[in-house]
Amino acid sequence: MDEIVKELRRREFARLDAEGHAYLDHTGSALYPDSLVRAHAELLRRSTLGNPHSRSPTSRLSTEHLVHARRRVLEFFRADPAEYEVVFTANATGALKLVGEAYPFEPGSCFLLTADNHNSVNGIREFAAARGAATRYIPLGADLRVASMEAELGEARPGTHNLLAYPAQSNFSGVKHPLEWIALAHERGYDVLLDAAAFVPTSRLDLSRVKPDFVCVSFYKMFGYPTGIGALLARRESLAKLHRPWFGGGTVRFASAQNAVHIPYRDAAAFEDGTPNFLALAAVSAGLDFLDEVGMERVSAHVTELTALLLRELTALRHDSGAPLVRVYGPSSTEGRGGTVAFNLLGPDGAVVDCRLVEAAAAEARISIRTGYFCNPGAAETSFEIEDEEALRCFEELKGDDFTLARFSVCLHDKPVGAVRASLGLSSNEADIRRLVEMLVALAARVAPGRRVEV
Ligand SMILES: Cc1ncc(COP(=O)(O)O)c(C=O)c1O
Repeated sequence: MDEIVKELRRREFARLDAEGHAYLDHTGSALYPDSLVRAHAELLRRSTLGNPHSRSPTSRLSTEHLVHARRRVLEFFRADPAEYEVVFTANATGALKLVGEAYPFEPGSCFLLTADNHNSVNGIREFAAARGAATRYIPLGADLRVASMEAELGEARPGTHNLLAYPAQSNFSGVKHPLEWIALAHERGYDVLLDAAAFVPTSRLDLSRVKPDFVCVSFYKMFGYPTGIGALLARRESLAKLHRPWFGGGTVRFASAQNAVHIPYRDAAAFEDGTPNFLALAAVSAGLDFLDEVGMERVSAHVTELTALLLRELTALRHDSGAPLVRVYGPSSTEGRGGTVAFNLLGPDGAVVDCRLVEAAAAEARISIRTGYFCNPGAAETSFEIEDEEALRCFEELKGDDFTLARFSVCLHDKPVGAVRASLGLSSNEADIRRLVEMLVALAARVAPGRRVEV
């Protein structure tokens, strides 16, 4: 392992070892480096910061941090300020909703999206439907990749607004979907919404090389702190296509109650609802500085090295009979994938062990992993080979407030509906992986054949 990364673990993430944690949920959130929160606390202690929506000296100081953060975000993603704008949001979901609610969907236009998508992207189909646009899902192969994007795109209907949405990296399988799709989709008449939330924490997104119309990110996923700030990076000409369905504080140049008229801002301000998280924005600039100091190439290389180890270890595990102990969903090599690995533990009879059992054993061992379907139903349905009709029958049977995934699984004749997800980041090390593997081996030895559901 890289000496600099080892030193970072000692210096910036010492609390992990001090408290005995194996943290393997980087796709949920990165961990903040110690120096980032210390420096931010210092800045807050020595500054007097007012609401940026005014002209007082304290307000001006907050505005300076805001302006600097905007510039820093563009610079980090190598986006030309003449071409891209940054809209600060509460998180990636907030950025996606801004696009969904304001994109000019219309009858005849199409919202095209990969089955591999977070629910915060899936939900945009409701805006599309409300405006009479069609939604079409692009299916995944057994490897959780798209076989041919070219064939799926076809030609968008001319004269309409069409949107392709996909994750640069899957939050379920870790698959990195090709960024080359962006130019291809443009050629075929689509705008592109790139969900980069799970990609940018460990990979460089260079907006001087690829030009998606809209990109969403959450900063806590990149450097752990602050929570509550994300961004929509949008090409200026694409942002101009969006028509907001309302206005609020901070988004209008003028509004009148008397005559019910208003003048919206034209730039990023038109999309930033209410008071921004002005106390935390300076930490966004500092967090990006931190990643640049470490170097995204170093972060990527570190995560790739550990992912290779994790995949090697998991796929080598065997029961006494020689049967595999683990089923990995998606690619089992590091080719075209990031550090998110979804899998299930298998009993000696090959049956999936309930992921909640794995979660409980992990918690006991102070290992933080995630279980379930990770808000990514399309990748889960493909992984678990759930048939459309059967799933619909169970949905109809169970829909309502009593719906649980456990009941859904029973209805599907005990098919798994959840997986275990281990995800790696800058603060991960080999010992974290070994602890996970030891826990799985110990748990497998305790699970008798056929005893799949224990909780
Ligand atoms: C790929 C992807 N998109 C979107 C989101 C939503 O991010 P947030 O919850 O920060 O809005 C996540 C969060 O896990 C994600 O992994």
